[in-house]
Amino acid sequence: MSGPVKKINIDEVEEGMFIEDVFNDSNVLLLSANVTVTSRGQIEHLKNQGVCSVYINTVKGKDAPPKENESPAVSAGDSQEMAARNRAVSYFEELERARSIHRQTIKTAKDALEAIRLGRDFSVASIEQAAEGIVESIINNPDALISLCQIKGYDEYTYVHSVNVGVLITSLANIMSYSRQRMLEAGMGGILHDIGKMRVPEYILNKPGKFTEAEFNIMKKHPRHGLDIIENKPNIAELSKVVIIQHHERYNGSGYPLGLKAEQIKEIGLISAVADVYDALTSDRIYRAAWTPQKALALIFQGCDKEYHRGIVERFTKHLGIYPVGSFVRLVSGEMGVVVYVDKESLLAPRVLVLFDPTGKRLKDPLEYDLLKLQTENPGEFKIDISLNPKAFQVDVNHYLRDKTALG
Ligand SMILES: [Fe+2]
Repeated sequence: MSGPVKKINIDEVEEGMFIEDVFNDSNVLLLSANVTVTSRGQIEHLKNQGVCSVYINTVKGKDAPPKENESPAVSAGDSQEMAARNRAVSYFEELERARSIHRQTIKTAKDALEAIRLGRDFSVASIEQAAEGIVESIINNPDALISLCQIKGYDEYTYVHSVNVGVLITSLANIMSYSRQRMLEAGMGGILHDIGKMRVPEYILNKPGKFTEAEFNIMKKHPRHGLDIIENKPNIAELSKVVIIQHHERYNGSGYPLGLKAEQIKEIGLISAVADVYDALTSDRIYRAAWTPQKALALIFQGCDKEYHRGIVERFTKHLGIYPVGSFVRLVSGEMGVVVYVDKESLLAPRVLVLFDPTGKRLKDPLEYDLLKLQTENPGEFKIDISLNPKAFQVDVNHYLRDKTALG
């Protein structure tokens, strides 16, 4: 499997290929050709101009032959592996290990991104090791790492976002029956998806207001910069590259860098788009406060069959739960609190840390309700009525999640 846009050596160019951008031996963009090769003479002409590598668009023209390290599709062996995969470990058992993996992976992502920003090399092996930890934890119990993704820290946004996208992509790959190897490749792609931003000037990345058209055009180059950064890395799989180049493509063709649409976008590209936008919307940014998970999911749902693939959005929503960890909810009783754990078998009855009594008075000591257990004892009671914006009640959800996960 390969992405629709790929960088190849000029010697690999054949007639019938559609060439987009061309580069010299210092990887400097010479020009955007946007032409179909119709003769050997054109290739020779490019060589004479000092062109060493080109981007070809495999949707508009002929593809290059597959390389040896490309990943196989899900095989019968994978299916057997899937059957053996289950939630072998309880949520609370996995939580401490997941905390350590999450923390370590943020550090790994930070080291890699900072190195790239400084024009230095980074360790693919450390990214692979981090992605391996994510895969392990997701297979043990996906809820542990996913709940940690709901804890947002503004300071480290770029690094935390990279890791969270890695976790969400790996987790979706898991429920979509990807082999363990492909989960690893997808996760590596997630951690690395925004590395190209390290070549975007910081004043644009950190701009609090709206981008000018010129700034947005620079921003839109980051998927391609990402691909450039890893092009000479031998151990990065094609699947990881697709995550990097396609995470801003949109189902209806409104995305970038290529404006691909529908089946032109690989499945992992469609998955990446949803994971990326969900984590971005639920994070505090310079230009806006974090949205609640419901508000983010509602927006993504509105984009079904438009920006996003409906089937993937539905799986994603189901996977996170109707009231994901971090939701602020009001019960039928009028009590309000934070969802701190969701059992996938009972999405409507999560564990809630109750912070307000039925009259709306803040409790001195929060109470933890296991709604599933309480509903069994008292059918008809202890139901969630509605999800609310925690900020309207001066509730910092992260504070309670941090506490809970620290206790875990
Ligand atoms: Fe991005």
